[in-house]
Amino acid sequence: MISTAAQTDDELAGGLKELIQQQSALLAAQLQAHHQTTFPPNAQKGIRNLSPAEVAKLLGVTEGYLRQVASESPELGTVSAGGRRSYSVEAVHEIRALLDSGARGNRRYLPWRSKDEDLQVITVMNFKGGCGKTTTTAHLAQYLALRGYRVLAIDLDPQASLSALFGHQPELDVGPNETLYGAIRYDERRRPMAEIVRSTYIPGLHIVPGNLELMEFEHDTPKALMKRTAGDTLFFARIGQSLSEVAAAYDVVVIDCPPQLGFLTMSALTAATSVLITVHPQMLDVMSMNQFLAMTADLLEEISRHGATSNYRWMKYLITRFEPSDGPQNQMVAFLRSIFGSHVLNHPMLKSTAISDAGLTNQTIFEVERNQFTRTTYDRALESVENVNGEIEALIRKAWRRAA
Ligand SMILES: Nc1ncnc2c1ncn2[C@@H]1O[C@H](COP(=O)(O)OP(=O)(O)O)[C@@H](O)[C@H]1O
Ligand SMILES: [Mg+2]
Repeated sequence: MISTAAQTDDELAGGLKELIQQQSALLAAQLQAHHQTTFPPNAQKGIRNLSPAEVAKLLGVTEGYLRQVASESPELGTVSAGGRRSYSVEAVHEIRALLDSGARGNRRYLPWRSKDEDLQVITVMNFKGGCGKTTTTAHLAQYLALRGYRVLAIDLDPQASLSALFGHQPELDVGPNETLYGAIRYDERRRPMAEIVRSTYIPGLHIVPGNLELMEFEHDTPKALMKRTAGDTLFFARIGQSLSEVAAAYDVVVIDCPPQLGFLTMSALTAATSVLITVHPQMLDVMSMNQFLAMTADLLEEISRHGATSNYRWMKYLITRFEPSDGPQNQMVAFLRSIFGSHVLNHPMLKSTAISDAGLTNQTIFEVERNQFTRTTYDRALESVENVNGEIEALIRKAWRRAA
């Protein structure tokens, strides 16, 4: 205790600013070194190859039919190891296009929305950090892309964990004006949204990365409000406005919100057609969510008085990091279900070391190899991810009035 205090005092003699600067530089160097070992420059991020059973399930066909299609089209990017066929994500995408071409299908395998079906914008929020927002967003975006939808994932958190998960290091790979801030800023440096969107290693999935620059929006907005003139797009409408520029290219947008109720989050909420609130079923988390809900309601009322309009399809709570063997967690889930009823998704996201270990190397369950884990650990996590996201996919299809 004493020695720590003395040491701290010594270092602080140089000033807090200097100490923080120095430690920030140290940490940045170490993080970069860590990043170099986890992701050497030539490392390729990507979805692992998928087994015939998985692909058949993703496509909604039998394995027999899949085998037939694959053998009729030897040019498809299938991989054979030890006589076993597996499929790259690119191959899955090619098969979708093939099945939907000609008389074989009609938006059944590439289930893009029609002109009568609105772009779905799902905002993932809650102001508690660590309640699974980023993990949920990443898995939802990847799942929907694997199911053939055209997806845009937006990182709205200045901490940019979603970007890191998708292989874009916020300090190294994301330059000035390359986050959503570039498309929603108030000055003349504002850029078209299409210039900011990046493609990813998954066909059909694009991302808008984030970094600290997003904070500027929180600083600029009060100033913009002071000197606004008629016809200015107010803060809450700015994300919706930039999304409308690129809407035609996508079926679903998923937004990972920062853990606070600032102008960015309010703008995302106004752009949303659906709201997903992630909640870890523990007392402190639920108490914090209670405050979050009350504040959100107040703010929504405030901005609607200033002309914000929205068109919400659904709002759901997703239980995250759930441990079925934990008594208090079960009680908390029962409590939430008794209050919120069908607003709580049926399937919780189970806590799994497969998810947290994958996160350590900035990967999702669709990216890590199954043999890195015991089989049941991996399969249980994957099943949970599929159940949760299948339920959300059904909500999206219901919003389009399609059959589940
Ligand atoms: N289902 C899960 N099982 C195990 N760990 C999880 C799960 N979901 C999230 N985590 C871990 O919890 C931490 C916080 O999750 P994250 O998605 O970053 O939350 P948030 O974005 O709300 O701050 C991360 O380390 C993540 O790997
Ligand atoms: Mg996060």
